[in-house]
Amino acid sequence: MEKIKIDIQELDLFFDKKQVLKNVSLHIPAGKITAIIGPSGCGKSTLLRSLNRMHDLNPQARLSGKIMLDELNILHGNTNVVHLRRRIGMVFQKPNPFPKSIAENVSYGLKINGLHDKKKLAEAVENSLRAAALWDEVKDDLDKSALDLSGGQQQRLCIARAVAVEPEVILMDEPCSALDPISTAKVEELMLELKKKYTLVIVTHNMQQAQRVSDFTAFMYLGELIEVGETRQIFQKPQHDLTKNYVEGHFG
Ligand SMILES: Nc1ncnc2c1ncn2[C@@H]1O[C@H](COP(=O)(O)OP(=O)(O)OP(=O)(O)O)[C@@H](O)[C@H]1O
Ligand SMILES: [Mg+2]
Repeated sequence: MEKIKIDIQELDLFFDKKQVLKNVSLHIPAGKITAIIGPSGCGKSTLLRSLNRMHDLNPQARLSGKIMLDELNILHGNTNVVHLRRRIGMVFQKPNPFPKSIAENVSYGLKINGLHDKKKLAEAVENSLRAAALWDEVKDDLDKSALDLSGGQQQRLCIARAVAVEPEVILMDEPCSALDPISTAKVEELMLELKKKYTLVIVTHNMQQAQRVSDFTAFMYLGELIEVGETRQIFQKPQHDLTKNYVEGHFG
């Protein structure tokens, strides 16, 4: 049996009167990569963002159901969101480095969490940049602005920033959609490397990418989770016609 890291149970989400997630139940196994796929607007990002309470500031969003991170009830009012986001980091579609130096981008979260020892911070910056396969490219430019990096480098910097606080889960919402094939290959390699230490959940429109990197694939359609299974099964022997049509490229 797989160890379950995140357990989503009967999740409903409304934006105002519009229901965007419909009774979604999904197990995210620990130490694996789970890909969420489905046509544009089906609720992939909304689901991903629910996992680290990114809808908190949206007064229109109403959630019901349950999401457990190990023993932590994520949606519970008493859950400390700052602590939660230390455990579940996120990388967005568009690289979003802070307008600060490369080193400061990576050390930011650690400083917020109270680490001020210069030597330890420098070590963490190096380790995180190495983990994100960016160190060799930037080691002589750590004090330069992150905004001067290329898009692919910025995305790897954002991954380094997410990794720096040593989360347990990393969420990635179409992390390669703004990247060229070489940067995409680097980020994919990186995902496989990160899997050794972290649980990953990625949203992707790229069916090849889902097959190259993910262990499990969840297919969503109009707010519902239609089918989830081992990636090979979902792509080669989908149980549901909607899944089959989608992975074969007949719609979406
Ligand atoms: N903040 C919001 N307020 C109201 N409606 C929203 C909000 N965010 C998303 N929606 C709606 O929720 C639905 C699901 O959106 P979501 O961004 O989750 O889709 P998606 O599957 O990630 O699509 P894409 O592949 O295009 O990124 C859409 O109909 C969208 O218009
Ligand atoms: Mg999206």
